[in-house]
Amino acid sequence: MRGDNRRETWGTKIGLILALAGNAIGIGNFLRFPVQAAQNGGGAFMIPYFVALILMGVPLMWVECAIGRMGGRHGHGHTAGMFGLLWRHRYAKYLGILGLVIPFTIALYYIYITGWTLAYGYFSLTGNYFGVTSREAMGAYLRGFQGVESNQYFSGAGAAYVFFLITLALSMYIIYHGVRGGIETLAKVAMPVLFLIGIALMIRVLTLGTPDLNYPDRNVLNGLGFVWNPQPERLTDASIWLAAAGQIFFTLSIGAGCIPTYASYMREEDDVALTGLSTVSLNELAEVVLGGTIAITAAVVFFGLAETQAIAKGGAFNLGFQALPLIFQQIPLGHLFGALWFLLLFLAAVTSVVALTQPVMALLQDGFGWSRWKATCVLLGGVFIMSQPVIFLLKHGFLDELDFWVGSFGLVLFALIEAILFAWVFGMEHGWAEITKGAAIPVPRLFYYVIKYVTPLFLLFILVAWAIQDVPSKIFMVGVNPEDVPYLWGARLMMIAILVGFGLLVSAAASRKGEGGTR
Ligand code: ALA
Repeated sequence: MRGDNRRETWGTKIGLILALAGNAIGIGNFLRFPVQAAQNGGGAFMIPYFVALILMGVPLMWVECAIGRMGGRHGHGHTAGMFGLLWRHRYAKYLGILGLVIPFTIALYYIYITGWTLAYGYFSLTGNYFGVTSREAMGAYLRGFQGVESNQYFSGAGAAYVFFLITLALSMYIIYHGVRGGIETLAKVAMPVLFLIGIALMIRVLTLGTPDLNYPDRNVLNGLGFVWNPQPERLTDASIWLAAAGQIFFTLSIGAGCIPTYASYMREEDDVALTGLSTVSLNELAEVVLGGTIAITAAVVFFGLAETQAIAKGGAFNLGFQALPLIFQQIPLGHLFGALWFLLLFLAAVTSVVALTQPVMALLQDGFGWSRWKATCVLLGGVFIMSQPVIFLLKHGFLDELDFWVGSFGLVLFALIEAILFAWVFGMEHGWAEITKGAAIPVPRLFYYVIKYVTPLFLLFILVAWAIQDVPSKIFMVGVNPEDVPYLWGARLMMIAILVGFGLLVSAAASRKGEGGTR
């Protein structure tokens, strides 16, 4: 396989933008966003949300694309290598390890959840859950499917496991076909299909009217109002700002390490400014317009405001996997709309899965010169083995523990390190030159100062607020069922093992390239 190890590039500009959009757009857009908005003051949530988007989301997207393109120029597709360029110090690469640990660990549970969407798409088509008609029963159906309890619907996680294996195999098949042949080809098909399905579902929801005249307040306008009506009195609540900032991180996939990896496959003439902005715009279109309309509005129309409140409180999966399947049973062509909804979620998710796993591919290929085949096999083995506790210890909170430390806290921590290295160690003059080099749009100079001062301060504020508000109770497992404590320690040990493992790999890759010495 000669030539296999030459660094790949994206084939076309549109392919690059669609791949980055696929990276960002995920389940977060369609389930996490509406639930976050509904739980955190509706329209009031949108103010901190857009503030965070402008002061952190867009600037960090530019920073990550710029770091990535620069890394690719020097043969580095992972942030450990890239940080060594920003800060010429032998320890810089160890700061960048988080950009491998975070996406890899998120992938361990994201792939499993992606399998759920595939399974529920199949169940919609076959009518498997049709006849399960109450929220309680549908909750039991989901818990049975997840293997959390054994009941009349499922006697174990067998079905979920089969769909996990299918999703894993499919993702690795795409990864094996490389950046251009696999990921870009997938994005060019999946993204347009996703938007078409999203628009179709949105139109269907907006034309639901008032299906039950006994409940005149259960209508589309009240559904939209549920997400959008402002509760400005809640704006002074710090937790709303944290929730909004957390959503921006999660939805844009920033602070995770996978945007820089994708950007490392840019060609030198590909621009950072317009590409980054297009990625953010497509993500926001999917999130705010489609994600903000479909699920919650449908829930209000069928369940009313009070019950939707309870559904939103129960979290994103309650909305997507319990409430909506009940609705599909009540509308004409429900099998089809159910299948379309879960296909939408699957396409959103699978394009994020390949993004979450590509940083490790980049480490194995760029750092060790491995062929795509060898790197894919090792990645597959690693993901497969380490997903097992996520799947089988779900009921003990194993997944949630990983998600808090890596999928929430870790993103902000890593983004802060990245912003400081970029703006203060590498230097804003150099950084600005990277962002604006060959830019297809003028980047307002104001962002020079935003990236230098505002973004790091904003990140610091969030991290400190989080450290005070949530981290102590998480560390000491306040309110955790004593029976679950050993499993949560298991999750922590696994995260530490992953951290150490990547540390050793990065160190070995640097020695191999003769980069281990002082600088
Ligand atoms: N950005 C991805 C999502 O929104 C991870 O789900």
